[in-house]
Amino acid sequence: MSSQVNRRIVLIARPHGNPKASDFQVVEGPIPVPGEGEVLVRNKLLSLDPFNRILMGNANSDQAPIELGNMMFGFTVGVIEHSNNTAFTVGDHVSGFLGTLGWQDYAVSDGSDIRIVDPQAVPLATYLGVLGVTGLTAWVGLSKVLNPKPGGTLVVTAAAGAVGSVAAQIGKLRGYRVVGIAGGPDKTRYLVESLGLDAAVDYKAENFAVKLAAATPEGIDTLYDNVGASLFPTLLPLINTGAQIVIGGVMSQITMTETSEGPDHLPDILRAIMYKNLTVRGFNVTEFYDLYPEFLAELTPAVAGGTVISTTHSIEGLENIPVIFPDMFTGRNPGKMVAKID
Ligand SMILES: NC(=O)c1ccc[n+]([C@@H]2O[C@H](COP(=O)([O-])OP(=O)(O)OC[C@H]3O[C@@H](n4cnc5c(N)ncnc54)[C@H](OP(=O)(O)O)[C@@H]3O)[C@@H](O)[C@H]2O)c1
Repeated sequence: MSSQVNRRIVLIARPHGNPKASDFQVVEGPIPVPGEGEVLVRNKLLSLDPFNRILMGNANSDQAPIELGNMMFGFTVGVIEHSNNTAFTVGDHVSGFLGTLGWQDYAVSDGSDIRIVDPQAVPLATYLGVLGVTGLTAWVGLSKVLNPKPGGTLVVTAAAGAVGSVAAQIGKLRGYRVVGIAGGPDKTRYLVESLGLDAAVDYKAENFAVKLAAATPEGIDTLYDNVGASLFPTLLPLINTGAQIVIGGVMSQITMTETSEGPDHLPDILRAIMYKNLTVRGFNVTEFYDLYPEFLAELTPAVAGGTVISTTHSIEGLENIPVIFPDMFTGRNPGKMVAKID
């Protein structure tokens, strides 16, 4: 074992708006001891997700928050340090795919919330990003939630982010003309030059609406939206009759403490749904976990062959998570945000 203590990040305050380092505390305790049928996992990588902000409470969400004083939920990749379970051997690498292993150094598992992963096949962080729940979310949205017809224009919002960058690349695999929306010139350049998108538009730049219209001359046939209220009114006039819309996330609303802000666009949105004959659907990826093998069968060869690339924004040290995590809400991270903790 690399240490004699188990550090855990617990929630000590509920943020209003963006999270702050002072909302968290790092506490130390003994390393847990696995019982019969259990294993001890030493976490190596922790996933940092917008869902962590939702679980902190005061988010624009129906999700029940974590109790103050409790450990933060989090997807993980780690290694088995001790095994009382015949399905796992010391040294096996595992992903904590239900998030129950959490933001801590060590966790005990009965095996139901971990699955073995191959550290030789792809970098370990890939199991939190493209080949983890992040990638599954993108794939589900474009494969199972709606039944969009490939060939038209797909627009992806927060396209340089963890889910968005995978959704955009899956869109290219499926034959769409893909246009990404992201904040800042570095991200739009990355979308076109690294991910091979057909166009990318910076929503923070002047004349965003005009530039988006120029980038979608045939309108929008499919929208994979990760952002919600802040961009939707600008997208709406460009959406074609019969378009399909996946609401995969509402990033711009997660830090809202009121139920609505700004002008009321609801009449415009409902009119468009009615007269443009739109299909709009949200989803929760947890309802699609049983499709993980089908998702892996399609995405693993694409990742191994380099047609879908994995971008990781890696930080070092569990103790730095409280300081770095808030960056997710100012858009500093391209791709998947991961903390390396050993
Ligand atoms: N449906 C599900 O089951 C499910 C599962 C996983 C994730 N999600 C959702 O999917 C979305 C993306 O998650 P992710 O893990 O891929 O996060 P992410 O995109 O890697 O990180 C968030 C990004 O969103 C953008 N953003 C932040 N605040 C914004 C704002 N006010 N307006 C516009 N863009 C903003 C930023 O990029 P820019 O620099 O481009 O602004 C930031 O980098 C989130 O809303 C998350 O809750 C849903």
